[in-house]
Amino acid sequence: MTTHSRRDFLVQAAHVAALGTAGLSGVSAFATPRPQIFAAGAAGKPIPYGAAVRADALTSDMSYREAVVANCQIIVPEGEMKWPDIHPARGEYRFEKADALMDFARQNQIEVRGHTLAWYGGMPAWTATIDSPAEAERELVDHIETVVSRYRGTIPSWDVVNEPLVDWPDGPASLRPSIWTRQLGPNYLPIALRATAAVDPDAQLVLNEYDIEYRGPRFAARRKALLQLLRSLRDRDVPLHAVGLQAHLFASRAIDRDALQDFLREVTALKLDVLITELDVIDYEFPGKISERDAMVAGLAGQFLEAVCDVVRPKAILTWGLSDRYTWVPTYFKRPDGKPNRPLPLDADLKRKPLFDVIEEYRRKVV
Ligand code: XIL
Repeated sequence: MTTHSRRDFLVQAAHVAALGTAGLSGVSAFATPRPQIFAAGAAGKPIPYGAAVRADALTSDMSYREAVVANCQIIVPEGEMKWPDIHPARGEYRFEKADALMDFARQNQIEVRGHTLAWYGGMPAWTATIDSPAEAERELVDHIETVVSRYRGTIPSWDVVNEPLVDWPDGPASLRPSIWTRQLGPNYLPIALRATAAVDPDAQLVLNEYDIEYRGPRFAARRKALLQLLRSLRDRDVPLHAVGLQAHLFASRAIDRDALQDFLREVTALKLDVLITELDVIDYEFPGKISERDAMVAGLAGQFLEAVCDVVRPKAILTWGLSDRYTWVPTYFKRPDGKPNRPLPLDADLKRKPLFDVIEEYRRKVV
């Protein structure tokens, strides 16, 4: 017999309740398939592809805007839904940029992923003044209720928790210090996930993490700690539906195919879906020659996608940007030879690179 997740049950129960008693005749609560998170990923269609976008560039740069419309079934705001943009001061929410992005998506029938609700990084200064557990919980829940309810029904998937683990964790309790861990300890995760589920029971709740795919003791420790963390959330019946693999890939790090696949099998056994959320190839250690570099970038992404798609069909594949014209990579990983980075599927002139083709190949691969 097929087993079903609590989410299936809750969603189905809500649907049956909405139908009233008529809906119950001959309908098992478990009979219908798992709801499709992204319409673009309907059965028989390729895995939906998306990219992180910048609202200001969508307004100012028409060729970029057209490339997003032409290539993306999903977009995710690179910054516009993070705390500094959307909640810059205590009690003050600013939705202009996020709303503009939602309008753009609606006009072009593109779906949106939300990013992110509970993260250590990029928090606005005012949050440093939160100084009790009760206040922290109130602020976190208020933020989630305000933001998630505004976009309920239009954002089917949220990175609720982003990057919870320290770089080299000892175990699931090795959480990255933040305003949330300082005041709430590990409880911040169930608080955030439950608050999101309460506001939007149909949203796919994702825990998003980086540095999961490589060979070496640090990455083994990360996979182990993440699995323990996921299990502990499951054991406490905390709502969670998927793991996001950020997949910022590096030339100097080898993909550990076997360990990654073992990890993904464990994730699947926990009845969690998998998404690739921020794929790009950080190319500062690759050779300067463009044809060589682009081939190596695509090769590394291909190795990663092959390993993942061999054991699980990701619900979506997103890159952290669409074109090399707009990428976070040079801010943190400039090339020593001063040449521009080329981490994304389209080059700075919006032309398709080998990375684009490799993503297309795996989107269409039948596992
Ligand atoms: C980055 C953005 O791309 C930058 O523009 C911003 O200044 C900092 O954050 N992992 C994440 C993303 O989950 O939110 C980060 O985005 C990149 C790494």
